[in-house]
Amino acid sequence: METILTGVRVNEEPTIGNFLGAYAPMINLSREHSEDRINFFVPDLHSFTTPIDHSKLYEQTIKGIKYYLAAGLDVNNPNIHIYRQSRIPAHAELCWILDCFTPFGEASRMTQFKEKGAEHPDAVTVGLFNYPILMAADILLYDAKYVPLGEDQFQHLELARNIAIRMNNKFGQELFTLPASEKEQVKFMHLEKGLRIRSLTEPNKKMSKSSENERSKILLCDDPKHAAKKIMSATTDSEGVIRFDMVNQPGISNLLTMESLLTNRDIQDVISDWAGQTSYGDLKRKVADTVMHFLADFQERVKNISNSDVEAILERGEQYANTAANKKLRQVQKAIGLYK
Ligand code: TRP
Repeated sequence: METILTGVRVNEEPTIGNFLGAYAPMINLSREHSEDRINFFVPDLHSFTTPIDHSKLYEQTIKGIKYYLAAGLDVNNPNIHIYRQSRIPAHAELCWILDCFTPFGEASRMTQFKEKGAEHPDAVTVGLFNYPILMAADILLYDAKYVPLGEDQFQHLELARNIAIRMNNKFGQELFTLPASEKEQVKFMHLEKGLRIRSLTEPNKKMSKSSENERSKILLCDDPKHAAKKIMSATTDSEGVIRFDMVNQPGISNLLTMESLLTNRDIQDVISDWAGQTSYGDLKRKVADTVMHFLADFQERVKNISNSDVEAILERGEQYANTAANKKLRQVQKAIGLYK
């Protein structure tokens, strides 16, 4: 039994692109690996390394978990554990210990710190700097070998591996399970690379939840009719014929991709359905209808999950996580000489 661990940030309203590119693959992964242990957690201590509205943090966490449940995460599988980082004090405690075995220079090389720091020049906190080391603690506490991650997080995974190697060399090879390298991760999890739903207004860019332009993105909480209108006004091109061509017709290709993923049909089948047709309006009407039904159905499922359902699931997951994490923490405390 391997441990797969995934941390999902929930502080912004997710888009349909997040659903198709992250939620759905994660749910598939959890089905394919139903015999492995899956730790699914919300890194809520990570969510204010840059400024946020704190009055919304709690509700956002609960809602973020509802979204995954509505997407099909199987809470009845006893190998799946769902928890909040903030409820497992061992994360913060191990983070401090790992801090003391992480050279400042190595942590300083993290490109995400530099980028986010540049975005928020007035709010560069020690927490933002320390972010990847807390992330290393999230992973190493559970002896997780597989950690599905976006490309922007690969450098952080490499840092976690380096910390584990360094401490194992000093304190014994059995201390931490070494997380698999990025290449092994991709192989084990059959993750489809490069699936990116594009912006509706600038289809050369990915659909981004943080975009200021409401018309560029479809949020999972959007009114379905309103979302359909956004599809109808999506930017296309002047080629005048429907083809799948990401370079010359990224808008049309994006619509075909959404149609294929939301209806669970092979992209090739969808492409041949539309091959040679010239009415962009017809394609848009079809995709708009698909998106509208998808959102209505998804939102209905979210509505049917109560806060207390989520709390009960978390309580179970957090009991498991505290037991597992405290055991590992004690092992580390012993290794570094705090306990006999
Ligand atoms: N940094 C990750 C992200 O932005 C979230 C995260 C925090 C995480 N801790 C983690 C992911 C541990 C995997 C494992 O997506």
